[in-house]
Amino acid sequence: MCALNASVWIFGYGSLVWRPDFPHVEAVPAWISGYERRFWQASTDHRGTPARPGRVATLVEAPGLRCRGIAYRITPGSAADVLAYLDHREKNGYLSRRLSLELDDGRRIGAVTYIADPRGIHFAGPAPLEEIARQIRQASGPSGANVEYVVRLADALRHLGVAEDETLELDAMLRGGAQSGA
Ligand code: SIN
Repeated sequence: MCALNASVWIFGYGSLVWRPDFPHVEAVPAWISGYERRFWQASTDHRGTPARPGRVATLVEAPGLRCRGIAYRITPGSAADVLAYLDHREKNGYLSRRLSLELDDGRRIGAVTYIADPRGIHFAGPAPLEEIARQIRQASGPSGANVEYVVRLADALRHLGVAEDETLELDAMLRGGAQSGA
C-alpha cells in the first residue's frame, strides 16, 4: 500500500486523539473540513458489548463545518505494522479513507482516517443527546467504561482549543449524571 519510507499520516478525532498507542514522529493539531464528530457509531468490542453496545465517535459529512483532531506522522518504516494495528483496533465497522487535512502549522496533507461505514451493522445513527448519554452511561467493554471515552476525549479537545462539540455536551451531561449518582 505505501512505499517503505514515504510519510504516512493518520488523523485521529476519537480515541486516537488521547491514546494513539503507535509510534509516531510528529503529532500536530489539525482540522478536517466538511465533517463533524458525532457519537453515531456503536461499540461492541471496546466500550460496550454486543448485549449492551456503547457509543463512540465517527465523522459525519457536514458541508461548511470542520472538525478538530490530531495528525500523526508515522515513524518511517513502521507504516505497515501501524496500519495493520489500526485496522484491527478500528475493525468494529470503521473503514479507512485517505482525506485531506490542514495542520496548524499550515501544511496540507492527506491522512488515513477511520470513519464508520454508514451502511455497517454498527452504525447507530442519530438519536436525542439524552438517549445517547443514557446509553453511554450504561455501557462498558474490554477497553473500559464508555463514560471514560467521552471524558478523556472532551479533556483532550478542550486542550486543543475546542469550545463547541457534541463531545463537550455529552461530557457535561455525563459529569452531571455522575454527581447525581445516575
Ligand atoms: C479515531 O479516533 O480517529 C477513530 C475513532 C476512535 O477510535 O475513537
